[in-house]
Amino acid sequence: MTQDEMKRHAAWAALEFISKDSIVGVGTGSTVNHFIDALASIKSDIRGAVSSSEQSTAKLKQLGIAVLDLNEVSELSIYVDGADEINGQKQMIKGGGAALTREKIVAAVAKTFVCIVDSTKQVDVLGCFPLPIEVIPMASSYVSRELKKLGATPVLRQGVITDNGNQIIDAHDLQITDPLQLEQQLNNIVGIVTNGLFARRPADIVLVGSSSGTKVIK
Ligand code: A5P
Repeated sequence: MTQDEMKRHAAWAALEFISKDSIVGVGTGSTVNHFIDALASIKSDIRGAVSSSEQSTAKLKQLGIAVLDLNEVSELSIYVDGADEINGQKQMIKGGGAALTREKIVAAVAKTFVCIVDSTKQVDVLGCFPLPIEVIPMASSYVSRELKKLGATPVLRQGVITDNGNQIIDAHDLQITDPLQLEQQLNNIVGIVTNGLFARRPADIVLVGSSSGTKVIK
């Protein structure tokens, strides 16, 4: 089974967690693209979706799923999204697709975060995947210097501008043994809009697609 097939299995398994007449928070990425295909198959049973990126919005609309503004929604029962890495505490690195800020906002509002991954995303310690950090462009050199003080090797992602008009710095060479503490520390650096650590708001349910089927971790 290919990695993409494992992603598809995890994505379709998420349908089981969607309740009738609900509004569904939708993440971003190749795994979520499979989930949007799955969601389209039950689109008459849901009220619509709140999207975390222009990319997902375009695909949702193309498949006839209503996209609602988060500000119009007082309650969001579920958010479904992928991850770049996930550890045993359901803490994640996200932002490989540069959508981390809106993803963190929608995840914060949702009651339940269902993370859909293939088994290659599971790790003991986060940090092998470079940590994406969204920065205000005028602060990128300052933020890079601050990241070096934390032991990271910062690399500005070339040619990428986020949906919010900002840049992404990928922080390499971090062994993240205390994700909660690092997430907070990064939040305190002026010029960082969002860091890709999802530790304060981890996933609640993880669906792991592998060649032997999809495992549910609660
Ligand atoms: C998007 O910014 C990311 O947070 C994605 O959720 C993450 O990169 C996983 O992407 P794939 O599903 O494409 O592996």
